[in-house]
Amino acid sequence: MNSKFKEYAIYQIYPKSFQDTNSDGFGDLEGVIKRLPLLAKLGIDMIWLSPFYKSHQYDNGYDVDDYKSIDPRYGDFEVFDRLVAEAKKYNIGIMLDMVFNHTSIHHEWFQESLKGNKKYQDYYIWKDEEEITNWESKFGGSAWEYCEELDKYYLHLYHPNQADLNWKNPQVRNEFSDVLRFWMDKGVKGFRFDVINVTTKPDVYEDDHIGDGRRFYTDGPQLMGWMHEIYDKAGFDESIVTVAELSSTSIENSNKYTNPKNGIFSMAFNFHHLKVDYVDGNKWTVTDMDWNDFFTLIDEWQRKAEEQDGWSAWFLNNHDQPRAVSRFGNPEKYHYESATALATLTHLMRGTPYVYQGEEIGMTNPDYESIDDYEDYESTNYYKILVENGTSEEDALKAINFKSRDNSRAPLRWDDSEYGGFSDVEPWIGVNKDKSINYMDAINDKHSVFYHYQDLIRLRKEHKAIAYGSYKSLYFDDKVYIFERAYEDEKLVVLINVSEEEYELSDTIKETIKDGNIISNNYSNFNFSKLAPYQAVVVSI
Ligand code: GLC
Ligand code: CA
Repeated sequence: MNSKFKEYAIYQIYPKSFQDTNSDGFGDLEGVIKRLPLLAKLGIDMIWLSPFYKSHQYDNGYDVDDYKSIDPRYGDFEVFDRLVAEAKKYNIGIMLDMVFNHTSIHHEWFQESLKGNKKYQDYYIWKDEEEITNWESKFGGSAWEYCEELDKYYLHLYHPNQADLNWKNPQVRNEFSDVLRFWMDKGVKGFRFDVINVTTKPDVYEDDHIGDGRRFYTDGPQLMGWMHEIYDKAGFDESIVTVAELSSTSIENSNKYTNPKNGIFSMAFNFHHLKVDYVDGNKWTVTDMDWNDFFTLIDEWQRKAEEQDGWSAWFLNNHDQPRAVSRFGNPEKYHYESATALATLTHLMRGTPYVYQGEEIGMTNPDYESIDDYEDYESTNYYKILVENGTSEEDALKAINFKSRDNSRAPLRWDDSEYGGFSDVEPWIGVNKDKSINYMDAINDKHSVFYHYQDLIRLRKEHKAIAYGSYKSLYFDDKVYIFERAYEDEKLVVLINVSEEEYELSDTIKETIKDGNIISNNYSNFNFSKLAPYQAVVVSI
């Protein structure tokens, strides 16, 4: 496996919310082409595009109707080919999202199974009433949906219209090889595999009396063999960069999957660090983050990834998460400082950093005023569930405001106009009313969050210690995180203050960094003894 991806910064685009070019209120692929020069300026190496395939949009495209198609709302193959070619001119590769755990119920395979076609019935997981379990969907409610046509239930771990595929069927796995081949032939250089580790369903379905069912289908032993088989049949090109989205995984499994010897992915996303602000496993809570818990967890993942030769994909933002600067920083008082401190953290850890559209200008949550402003099924469904279970409407909305996935799906604000330069008509989902955080202003201000991201991405290419170095924690508590990255004769010390107070460094740390050179700093000065609020500094020693 080629390890160039360790030097990459990968940029995620959620096409629906990125840039509309034909005034229908939906982002499109032409919009991605339009903004390529700015992404090239940022310095990214690869663009991961969230799904743009034909879809009924129950889950914004993660409900795929046809894996080898382009939804007309996003464009067509002519635009796609042009996008690949234009991106290539900037040395930017295209990574596609492969949603192989489930299809939409409108996919031809599902439709055929409804008509009684046995071949396609065996593509899904059908059970009689007495066989279904108490498992819960990740979006709330039962994971089983009744289907009148067949008088049976099908499994859906996500939206009721996203039917889980039966990976045990070799024909299903052949279909995946075929899809990968199709897109590789179109010049695609990377794949992200959506919730890939929940594809390993058990032989026997049983009730889960201690959880929602996930322990029966997550990280099953078949995954490694299946992926090798799928790649082999696809004639997989070894230079392709792959990233797994791992749901509720373990450190050991993540490292096993990404180990260059027999692994199946270049790198993997895990979500444990973004669950530190859950209360008793409940996402819909509004609490302050305990940074000490966060750093304890990150430190363990960093250490073990190195020991076990695994590789992580690091991120604080994506299309399923609220905006990190609203969640972990302070956009009112320390917008620039907290956005850049969080960026320094993500980009200096051992692993490949991902930037989600808009985080490079420090976009914040849109703070929608009513539940009717939300489009996301998970958000609206949980709002209902919270209210049914006795939470007041006001508190339920607060929880949704804080954690909803729609926070990051508000259109990218390119300028300070009414629709943010995203579109010239009212977009499919509300634009952030705060006009002050927008791309054009960021580009015109040499000291904006954008240029800090640009610096971090450039530094990764200049300092091998960032891309390839070892990791060692020097100190952390609930306010600061100080760690070292080392490669050959270079040593970097990263110091990040995530609190709103000044932080006096210990004598040991002062001694360690005293003769160093500052290579990154989100303040104009640093006296080698004290960190200002949200100050993030990288010192080469
Ligand atoms: C992944 C995607 C998310 C989607 C889910 C089901 O978690 O990131 O957006 O809803 O899978 O496909
Ligand atoms: Ca459009």
